[in-house]
Amino acid sequence: MSTIENTPRAGRSQRPAEVKVWDIAIRSFHWSLVISYVLVWVSADEWDRLHELAGYVIGGLIGFRLIWGMVGSKHARFSDFIYKPSAVYFYLRDSLFHRAKRYLGHNPAGGAMIIALLLSLIAATISGIAMTTNTFWGSEWVEELHEITANLTLVLVILHLAGVVYSSVAHGENLVRSMISGFKRH
Ligand code: HEM
Ligand code: HEM
Repeated sequence: MSTIENTPRAGRSQRPAEVKVWDIAIRSFHWSLVISYVLVWVSADEWDRLHELAGYVIGGLIGFRLIWGMVGSKHARFSDFIYKPSAVYFYLRDSLFHRAKRYLGHNPAGGAMIIALLLSLIAATISGIAMTTNTFWGSEWVEELHEITANLTLVLVILHLAGVVYSSVAHGENLVRSMISGFKRH
């Protein structure tokens, strides 16, 4: 995938040249996940069919992401953003003192957050599916597990958004725009 990686985009007028960071699969995955996630929440109490459908879509998207994390372009791969816990700790500590390094791909804390998000979404999806099976239908502990894991995903999403805002401000770049266009400055 080096062709995607190394394709600089000539800067318009005074804008510096940019480099492709997020491939189309990552961007489509992300925004489809956001839409399905909103749907899964708005439908949670009233529209069971929509809720289950959106939940299955989330499960499918995550299945795809797990594969893409192994075979996708450079910054999509798990090997690019899974850091040692100590690196995550030092990154967070440096952030407190406004001296965290800028990363082209996901930074160590962002990488840890992605793993946490994926795991919690998997847990919410599996417990949700379990609730619809004969074996666990009506089981209180499975319902409780589904509620807890769903709420956990929400807490993580809020932290994820805070991280995106913080990183964008700290490094003077618009990470949301990059997740739309795929490009970042060098
Ligand atoms: C409007 C709301 C959201 C915005 C603006 C947003 C923005 C972003 C941005 C900018 C990144 C890239 C971070 C980086 O540069 O390292 C990212 C990554 C990610 N976000 Fe979000 N996000 C939103 C909602 C969500 C939600 C609701 C979820 C999950 C339910 C989510 C899951 C993820 C995941 C898994 C990644 C990693 C992308 C990958 O490598 O596959 N995001 N998000
Ligand atoms: C990330 C994925 C998911 C999230 C965040 C989520 C979230 C929720 C939430 C917040 C509730 C309401 C809990 C309550 O008030 O007690 C709920 C209920 C439920 N969910 Fe999910 N869910 C997800 C995936 C799924 C999936 C994949 C299925 C099944 C295929 C499913 C099936 C159900 C069922 C059957 C209920 C009970 C509905 C009712 O009592 O009317 N969920 N879910």
